[in-house]
Amino acid sequence: MTANDLRRKYIEFFLSRNHKEIAGRSLIPENDPTVLFTTAGMHPLVPFILGEPHPAGKRLTDFQKCIRTGDIEAVGDPSHLTFFEMLGNWSLGDYFKKEAITMSYEFLTSPEWLGISPDIVSVTVFAGEADIPKDDESAGVWRSLGIPEERIYFLPRSDNWWGPAGETGPCGPDTEMFIDTGRKACGPDCRPGCSCGKYFEVWNDVFMEYNKQADGSYKKMDRRCVDTGMGIERTAAILQGKKSVYDIEVFRPIIAAIQQVSGKSYGSNEQIDMSVRIISDHVRASVFILGDENGIVPSNLGQGYILRRLIRRAIRHGRKLGIEGQFLKEPAKAVISIYKAVYPELERREAVILDELAKEEDRFLLTLRKGEAEFEKLLPNLLKNPQKIIPGRVAFRLYDTYGFPIEITEELARENGMTIDRKGFDEAFEKHQEISKAGAEKSFKGGLADNSEMVKRLHTATHLLHQALRRVLGTHVQQKGSNITAERLRFDFSHTAPMSPEEIKAVENMVNDQIAGDLPVSMSIMSLEEAQKDGALAFFGDKYSDQVKVYTMGDFSKEVCGGPHAEHTGELGRFVIQKEQSSSAGVRRIRAVLE
Ligand code: ALA
Repeated sequence: MTANDLRRKYIEFFLSRNHKEIAGRSLIPENDPTVLFTTAGMHPLVPFILGEPHPAGKRLTDFQKCIRTGDIEAVGDPSHLTFFEMLGNWSLGDYFKKEAITMSYEFLTSPEWLGISPDIVSVTVFAGEADIPKDDESAGVWRSLGIPEERIYFLPRSDNWWGPAGETGPCGPDTEMFIDTGRKACGPDCRPGCSCGKYFEVWNDVFMEYNKQADGSYKKMDRRCVDTGMGIERTAAILQGKKSVYDIEVFRPIIAAIQQVSGKSYGSNEQIDMSVRIISDHVRASVFILGDENGIVPSNLGQGYILRRLIRRAIRHGRKLGIEGQFLKEPAKAVISIYKAVYPELERREAVILDELAKEEDRFLLTLRKGEAEFEKLLPNLLKNPQKIIPGRVAFRLYDTYGFPIEITEELARENGMTIDRKGFDEAFEKHQEISKAGAEKSFKGGLADNSEMVKRLHTATHLLHQALRRVLGTHVQQKGSNITAERLRFDFSHTAPMSPEEIKAVENMVNDQIAGDLPVSMSIMSLEEAQKDGALAFFGDKYSDQVKVYTMGDFSKEVCGGPHAEHTGELGRFVIQKEQSSSAGVRRIRAVLE
């Protein structure tokens, strides 16, 4: 069964169980500045899990492109990828544990569907912790389906709890399904969850019962939801009897293209194979990021920086295979041709994808040549250090002067039996950041790219915009997301209809009136309760602690916010709305600048 077959079967199964198919979303989260990429199928569904009605109903299914870079060091082993596709089904206040687990089991093991032998299925369930009880209910369902006691594992939070990607959001215990690949156990403690590759996690059923609050506590949600995720690549590997995700059919043409350009054959030397797998993964991920409908290009910021790292790491492994010049075009074309039927955006953006890859290869090859030459020059001296530690300032100089990424210095160090004083590097890096205030090279996770004057002004303008929208459109308007760089602000808010040109003008004028009025911006600290009593706007998405900061702009705006802001609205300049468009169901997006 190919990845395509699996994708189709999954959707077909859940359609036959009264689910509605919804479209997967962009890899770039549209309303959430707290994470850089969509990391799971549930991510675009968070508002609906938290209670907003979904237009397609209470039982949903889809496939979603995902990026996870947390395990980038593990890429190349049998099961880790940075890009992967996730199949999912959701109950939004509809079915719960019994039905979810029963459907999972049926889809996995029924000969009519995947037909995996029940004898090689193991499951894990939440062992309980503090106020949150052990999940006996799920274990009971598994038992009733015939999974024997010795293949039901009760594991702690680190294994069987799904939490939000940001600090707050829906969460709950989960139950995970593992397939025994038949590999030898790595030791007596080898069990589902072990990273040796014997047990492949193929599916996770999460029982969303809690909403994690900013103070770390868990609040029971009004209704319970189910969120599940099945990894396509891992499951396809099992179905095809392969021991590694890299052995499934989608990787074959990618690996073939890499063999072709490198002249190295795959499958005879582990070191070579590792590089081939890393390149395959990274080129696939890069093509999907470049080809996304919200297309990202390499840069030193946010998603662009992750993309740059992936491309550059692939190039570095290309060099390990003896490739000197550009080589990513053919593997990238292989990725596009495998996936374009399912993800047509890749074909639409093919020219951009190939062009951006080539440009990044050129830039990095130059950097590498210079950096490696410098490293070679330093090496004899570095090797004299008996502890085999490369001082942080040396690594930083390579980075600062030659643009040599720290990850690559680390790899070179490892190859020469050395490590890097990473703390020293980080300190030098931070000092440099403070001095230059550049903000570059660091991904931004809050809604603000940096603390520059321009970002502060745009942030203040965002508060004025928020209030103006509430006055012009109505108090149903709530902030759904905010993302500010030195060039522009982007503001997402709840509102169902497109704004009319008159409404846009009215909002723009109202903001400019507040700027002309040169309102003082003041901040005071109080409890959230006091702030709300005082009429301050405070919405989900802000990170509240006991004491909150409230920013007031004249009599016009009062909002709970972490700052920073301009001191007077008079500093802002002329406010111009450049674009008003839909962002997702019931959410509009404004892009605006200060001239
Ligand atoms: N959100 C769950 C996961 O990604 C299903 O594992």
